[in-house]
Amino acid sequence: MSNYHIKHLEEYYQVYRKSVRNPEGFWEEIAEEHFMWRKKWDNVLSWDFSKPEVKWFEGAQLNITENCIDRHLATRGEKTAILFEPNNPSDPAEHITYNQLHQRVNKFANVLKNQGVQKGDRVCIYLPMIPELAISVLACARIGAIHSVVFAGFSSTALATRINDSDCKMVITSDGSYRGAKTIDLKGIVDEALEICPDVNTVLVVKRINTDINMVTGRDHWLQPLLDAASTDCEPEIMNAEDPLFILYTSGSTGQPKGMVHSTGGYMVYAAYTFKNVFQYREKDVYWCTADIGWITGHSYIVYGPLANGATTVMFEGVPSYPDFGRFWEVVQKHKVTQFYTAPTAIRALAKQGLELVEKYDLSSLKVLGSVGEPINEEAWHWYNDNIGKKNSPIVDTWWQTETGGIMITPIPYVTPTKPTYATLPFIGIQPALMDEEGKELKGNQVDGRLCIKYPWPSMARTIWGNHQRYKDTYFSAYKNMYFTGDGALRDEVGYYRITGRVDDVIIVSGHNLGTAPIEDAVNEHPAVAESAIVGFPHDVKGNALYGYVILKDTGESRNHDNLRKEINQIITEHIGPIAKLDKIQFTSGLPKTRSGKIMRRILRKIAGNDTSNLGDTSTLLNPEVVQDIMDNVL
Ligand code: WTA
Repeated sequence: MSNYHIKHLEEYYQVYRKSVRNPEGFWEEIAEEHFMWRKKWDNVLSWDFSKPEVKWFEGAQLNITENCIDRHLATRGEKTAILFEPNNPSDPAEHITYNQLHQRVNKFANVLKNQGVQKGDRVCIYLPMIPELAISVLACARIGAIHSVVFAGFSSTALATRINDSDCKMVITSDGSYRGAKTIDLKGIVDEALEICPDVNTVLVVKRINTDINMVTGRDHWLQPLLDAASTDCEPEIMNAEDPLFILYTSGSTGQPKGMVHSTGGYMVYAAYTFKNVFQYREKDVYWCTADIGWITGHSYIVYGPLANGATTVMFEGVPSYPDFGRFWEVVQKHKVTQFYTAPTAIRALAKQGLELVEKYDLSSLKVLGSVGEPINEEAWHWYNDNIGKKNSPIVDTWWQTETGGIMITPIPYVTPTKPTYATLPFIGIQPALMDEEGKELKGNQVDGRLCIKYPWPSMARTIWGNHQRYKDTYFSAYKNMYFTGDGALRDEVGYYRITGRVDDVIIVSGHNLGTAPIEDAVNEHPAVAESAIVGFPHDVKGNALYGYVILKDTGESRNHDNLRKEINQIITEHIGPIAKLDKIQFTSGLPKTRSGKIMRRILRKIAGNDTSNLGDTSTLLNPEVVQDIMDNVL
């Protein structure tokens, strides 16, 4: 019997040791006993981080939707698979059973087929958090099409970049979306994007907000009539374990977003196994992750992980502040949520609202609280623990990444003693290492370095779509034979990990990864801007906020700085989305540069964060005098 469900600390250590001593044997057992394969693998793992190439369960065949849906029908057909909670609290929640999910996914899959989508084709999904989002993801997987979900808060330019990068032929969207009291014209954004996406020939449109929209004849189709005409039978496409399941874009520190490619077999095994353990999921639980399916957290822990375990997974369309800041707790009470998984930025925003809105609701159903996306500060951790968990529900501070596919460092609730701000111990099968800047591994405890992973795990991304070299350069070149995460971490005296933050030019704002380079590119589009540098600075709700240093072109005319700030943020909104807007913009005459012309962001970060006590030696800069000038004018 494999150790599918870990129940106490000794068992964790024992299983962990087993998983590290013989990873192939360990994962083979898990895969064999808990999933449905059409054909077993010839080889559990082959890998070479120098290429890099990683293959899990090679030769095996499966369809992930058979694992997430079909195999549950006999025993859980009438159980709720997806529990949809709409934006408006007075609209009824929708309970989609496994039987219904089966029918709806099959119908959708047949619509895709009828529209000419084939195995291996890329389909872009740009939808709000409505059931059709999860269903279209699964419909793609049913027929072997590769889904590329783009978060519906991204702008038309960002959407177009992603559509073109992976050459999607189809876009699935809706007439619009609800966001609290507002509606958003999603279809309008898609229309704008498609002006520069010549290869998209089909757009499927879900009716959600019932507005009049422009439909392009021959290209755009309302989804409902197509579904009505489609059959509920759709044989799953038989996929190889290493066939790509999806592409999901994440920001890099430079250049275009990276289309991380995830596999079918390994991803499924790891997403399911982590879900079961990290949330201690039991049959009657109601699990709720507040993330959007546009991010990896939603892929692995709203859709695939929960459904592969036959769970009930809540999908929430709304926002934490509508109709008031008690909404999360109202939903927990209403559906008797047992596991609640959210981001530190949401916790901090809710903690600011005072306790009346928490105390109004019965939260006694909760058993496990989760945190993801950025470091959780001590104050937020305690607020969450005291007021939401009532000191009775362990907090799982889960560290992982789009690239890792699943949770990597985390407590196991009721198993691992927690410690505020610590992600604690590596999950089963994960072998972390801390490295110094010279490339030496820091052994033992009480060390602080750069976080790497030494050995493959089943759900690691296999490549960057269309750019394997970039995959190698970004993740496998900094340290020999290691996957480099881009994060810094420390290991305390008992071996617990604490993630200290990014060590590259990625800034995490409200849990969203933003690369500085694309934002700088957007700022530089403004005709008055000569050069810019973006850094992060601490923010009490968002974790980090963005600070822009901008050099204006010398045109001799004077300009209104407030108007310029608005215009610059408007350009950023158009190019990336409102999440990337700058909180502060300082106009400056110069930027501190090294003699080789590199901007010294370290200095800029310190100034923006009001921490100028230790700027280091600035005398070797090309232009040391600008440092004082920038400090004198800091916002
Ligand atoms: C950060 C989200 C501290 C980290 C699943 C990582 C965290 C990046 C945590 C990935 C955590 C995520 N504690 N930092 N528990 N979880 N991060 O790709 O910097 O959106 O590299 O994946 O978020 O963000 P991504």
